[in-house]
Formats: sequence, structure tokens, C-alpha cells
Amino acid sequence: MTKTKKQLYIKTFGCQMNVYDSVRMKDVLSPLGYEASDSPEGADMIVLNTCHIREKATEKLFSDLGRLKKLKDKKAKEDGEMILAVAGCVAQAEGKEITRRAPYVDMVFGPQVYHRLPEMVARATRAHAEKNPSQVKGAGILDIDFPVESKFDQLPEEFETRGASAFLSIQEGCDKFCTFCVVPYTRGAEYSRPLEDILTEAKRLMASGVRELTLLGQNVNAYHGQNKSGKEVTFTDLLYHIAELDGLERLRYTTSHPREMTQDLIRAHGEIEAMMPYLHLPVQAGSDRVLEAMNRKYTGDEYRKIIDDLRAVRPDIALSSDFIVGFPGESEKDFQETLKLVKDVVFSQSYSFKYSPRPGTPGALMELQVEDAVASRRLEELQSVLDAQQFAFNEAYVGQTLPVLFDRRGKEKGQLLGRSPYMHSVYVTAPERLFGETINVKIQSAGPKSLTGKIVTGEYDKKDHLEIERVNA
Ligand code: SAH
Ligand code: SF4
Ligand code: F3S
Repeated sequence: MTKTKKQLYIKTFGCQMNVYDSVRMKDVLSPLGYEASDSPEGADMIVLNTCHIREKATEKLFSDLGRLKKLKDKKAKEDGEMILAVAGCVAQAEGKEITRRAPYVDMVFGPQVYHRLPEMVARATRAHAEKNPSQVKGAGILDIDFPVESKFDQLPEEFETRGASAFLSIQEGCDKFCTFCVVPYTRGAEYSRPLEDILTEAKRLMASGVRELTLLGQNVNAYHGQNKSGKEVTFTDLLYHIAELDGLERLRYTTSHPREMTQDLIRAHGEIEAMMPYLHLPVQAGSDRVLEAMNRKYTGDEYRKIIDDLRAVRPDIALSSDFIVGFPGESEKDFQETLKLVKDVVFSQSYSFKYSPRPGTPGALMELQVEDAVASRRLEELQSVLDAQQFAFNEAYVGQTLPVLFDRRGKEKGQLLGRSPYMHSVYVTAPERLFGETINVKIQSAGPKSLTGKIVTGEYDKKDHLEIERVNA
């Protein structure tokens, strides 16, 4: 069989912004004849879309690159050149270092220039053609600009199909400068896309079969875009606009900052029907002293108040969060306050990390770095409380019926995996034709990280077809 399309393999690390960007990179490369492949073997182009949020990212990248170089060399000997590219936040932060230490890499580019990919690919292809194949040097393209033009204006329409659930980036970058975090340096200044652009993309996604939209941004609720006439549009306004789109079943957003949880936004959680009863609202720590040192600009009690207000308008809302233990200066008493906050709030899911000093951030220069063994012990203690909360949250749904949107396939044959409104992962044995649909599922058992259940069926109809309770169908 002759291969008509060039094979593109993208490996994505990090947050949902990167997941969205990887899909958009595929959209940009599709008109150039690239199709997505799920294996790096034999690929014509490999992109590592990297994350720099915690340590070891750079070392891990170099070891991945070392392995990919072998594939690149093999391809050069057998059937042509492979373009090897590093994108994302490590590329932005360590671009020069990557070109120095891994000169065989063809392209290194940051998150804001994906629209320039066609030009970069053309330059790389030319460089390959001009070179002696035995030469190991890559094309040497480095683009870590924060350009004035927005990549969103330049990216093409979507080519890849998105399935039932899709991400939509509405905001990028961050101006908050938490003292532990690299994002303001790797993603650049805060930028909000214009309202109409977002609505157009949302409509296109929904026309292609998407039922659930997750609005994305590093500070998504700091969104402040403009409408056609230049009038300011807040994040809450945007939610109301999106909620009006025909066919939208589920609306979510991530990641939000507690400082931007306005009363209007909280009210919207009670008013907008499509808004799912789940919110990821990173708190990081429970001690006011540590929160101040982190430059989070809220207190533990302010966070608790936001949660109380959310629960007043949406009593069943499930809450998840991010935590950092071992931030410089964190005492045992500070850590106990984090535990206290966790016990007060009760989370359905969480992500917790040991503080990792990031080069170039103020936190890395702070005195009183916490000993690793102490941070490890605290992380373990925190995670055991969070895990118990998650398990209890899962168990509370056993026996209930939940609408589940099936957007993934399970590991076993005949198994579908979907999400409840509360973001539980729910496994069921179900026919393939239910993929992409929202179906009522009776929850039978709960595990620490997921639920299992069975499809709720009605009576058999005359043709002996199982009738299934579709939701919103
Ligand atoms: N914009 C989001 C966070 C994005 S980064 C917010 O403001 O909440 C995702 C998570 O990674 C953070 O919430 C934090 O818990 C963790 N994180 C970020 N920098 C870190 C660091 N230097 N060490 C450990 N964890 C970190
Ligand atoms: Fe990082 Fe803070 Fe910005 Fe979140 S708000 S991306 S943690 S600087
Ligand atoms: Fe990582 Fe960059 Fe996202 S550092 S968390 S990929 S914004």
C-alpha cells in the first residue's frame, strides 16, 4: 500500500491548554498533508508539546529526544527525513538550551506561534533537502516570540473531528505571577479572545457533533474580551452567550482563580442549565501566611466563603482543587491549616504536589526552603485525606442514576467510559453505538477513582431492540 499522507505524531504533556494546542497544531498541519498517527515509529514529523510546570521536565525532554533521534536517524537511512520539533512551555523557557544540547532537533517553538508552523515546516523541509543526509544537524529553527498578532486569528478552521466533548481556549497567559509559577513566563501576558471568535468556534464545534464544551484558560475566569462593537464582555457574560447556543448540553470551564469568582459568576452556576455541577478551583494552601507568600491574594476564609456561596446556589456542586505542600517557609502549623481547610470544604477530586522551585520565579530564591523529606511526609498525609474524601464522594452515588456522556472507550472490549455531571469517570459495558451519547446509568459500585454502572433500559420494543434512556435526545 502506498502512503499518501505524511504521518504526524504529537505527544502532549501538561495542562488542557496544551491538549487544545496539540489539536490545533494538527489542524494547521492537515492542509500540508499530515495526518495524525498514534505511534512515533516511521512518523514524518514528531512534535513534543512540553510542560514546564514542575521539575524534571527538561531532563525528561532530553531523554525523550535522545530516543527519538534514533528514529530520526533510522528514517533518514530508510525513507527520507523526519522533522523533529519541540513545542510548548519547555520550548519557550529553554529554547536556546534545547538547540544547543540537541542540535538534531529541527524546530523549537513556543505556545504563541503555532500559526507559523507551515512556514517553519517549509524551512525545515528545504534545509533537509539541501543537506547531506549523513549530516546530523537539524534545521535549527527557533521561534520563541510573543508575537503581536494572536495565534487564534491566524489558525485555520478545525479539520480534526472532536468527538462529543471538546476544549475551547478562550484566554491565554497570566498576569498574576504567583511566586511559585512559570506560566506567566512561558505563556506570556494575559490575552482574551474576542467574543465573536469564540462563538464562531463554539458553533462550528457543535455543528460537528460536540455536546460538551470546556472553556479553557490558565485564568479562565479572568477573561475580559470584547464584542463586535468594542464593548467589554466579562467571563460571566460569555457563559450566558455560550449557554444560548443550540444543542449545547454541558458547559464547563477550567482553570479558574478564586480571586475572579465574582458574585455574578457564582450566580450563573445556579442559573445556567447547561452548567455542570463541578468546579476546579485551585486553593494551593490553607494558611494565610503561605497564601500571601505565594501571592495568591485571598485568604483561607475568603476561599471558604466562595465555596459556601457556590453551594448556596448549587447545593450539589462537586469541587476539586490543586494543592502545593512544602512552599518555602511552610511550617507544621501552616500545613495543619491546609488540612483543616480540606476537612472544612470537602473535595470530590484533587491534585496535590510537592513544591518544586522553578528557575526564574521568586519562590526559587526564597529562604527557608522546606526539606524534601518533610514535604514528602506532608504530601502523603494530605493525599490520604484527599483520597478518602474522593472515595466517600464516589460511594455516595452508588444506587443513583446519573447521565453519563460517553466520550472515551474503556480498556476492555465492549466497555465505554464517560463522565457524570460531577466529573466522575464512569465505566459501563455498552454497545459501541452509544459512543458520543449521554445515557442514564445506574451506578453499581464505586472505586477510589471511578464508578461502574449499567445502562438504564426501558421495556423491550416490538423489534426486540433494547430501549435506552437517552438524555436530552
Ligand atoms: N492557573 C492555575 C494553575 C495552573 S498550574 C491556578 O492559578 O490555579 C497547575 C497547578 O500546578 C497549580 O495549581 C499548582 O498547584 C501546581 N504548580 C504550579 N507551579 C508549581 C510548582 N512550582 N511546584 C509545585 N506545583 C506547582
Ligand atoms: Fe500560575 Fe498563578 Fe497564573 Fe495560575 S494564577 S497560572 S498559578 S501565576
Ligand atoms: Fe505546563 Fe505550560 Fe500548561 S507549563 S501546565 S503546559 S501552561
